Amino acid sequence: MKRGCRVRGRCTIIRILCPASQSKRSVMLKLIGISGSLRRGSFNTALLRAATGMMPDDAELEVQSIRGIPLYDGDVETQGIPAAVSVLKDAIAGADGVLLITPEYNNSIPGVFKNTIDWLSRPSADIKRVFGAKPFALIGASPGNFGTILSQAAWLPVLRTLGTRPWFGGRLLVSRAGQAFDETGTLKDEAVREQLRQFLAGYVAFVRERPPHESK
Ligand SMILES: Cc1cc2nc3c(=O)[nH]c(=O)nc-3n(C[C@H](O)[C@H](O)[C@H](O)COP(=O)(O)O)c2cc1C
Repeated sequence: MKRGCRVRGRCTIIRILCPASQSKRSVMLKLIGISGSLRRGSFNTALLRAATGMMPDDAELEVQSIRGIPLYDGDVETQGIPAAVSVLKDAIAGADGVLLITPEYNNSIPGVFKNTIDWLSRPSADIKRVFGAKPFALIGASPGNFGTILSQAAWLPVLRTLGTRPWFGGRLLVSRAGQAFDETGTLKDEAVREQLRQFLAGYVAFVRERPPHESK
């Protein structure tokens, strides 16, 4: 063990046995995944389900839903933040990162999904607590040929406005989703499964890195 400590950071074999080196790795990361579709047979929700089963060992992906989030109405807000919104806000605030699984509607973000994020950004004084420097990542599935590329791009100004820390190290655009999933919603396309696995590994590694201002 002593030998491992002396070469810590450079050793690959000893690190497995060294409690000092393991302590950082053994903390499970808790990530949240939110699908932007309410549809029972949603490809995006199916993609989220697949992701939950393909996480690296040191991270878990908890499924949260946009169901139950009301339409944003400033008059409702003046009476108080709806309970479903507060619950989701607190879940995000307590998570290490958020994975958005976004459909594409008319080359952009589906209204129901954007509506949820808009609610989560209220009141604006709470944005920092919920979103500030939070590692976010995007994936999406579409039956068409472009796999939500425009929807994912449309999310970027939103994530920037909210002060998140988006991960740009990987991309997952699941096109022709009808062929990638079977009739039960299982992700059957092996190539896409491998892409998803690699995406999740890269994203989790990014979440585990501390931003420069925190590591000083
Ligand atoms: C209003 C509407 C607009 C759509 N626009 C697009 C689009 O711009 N690009 C695209 O690839 N698919 C588009 N679609 C098809 C969706 O990708 C498809 O319905 C998909 O299955 C939705 O995601 P889900 O399966 O997770 O519900 C649109 C669907 C709807 C209902």
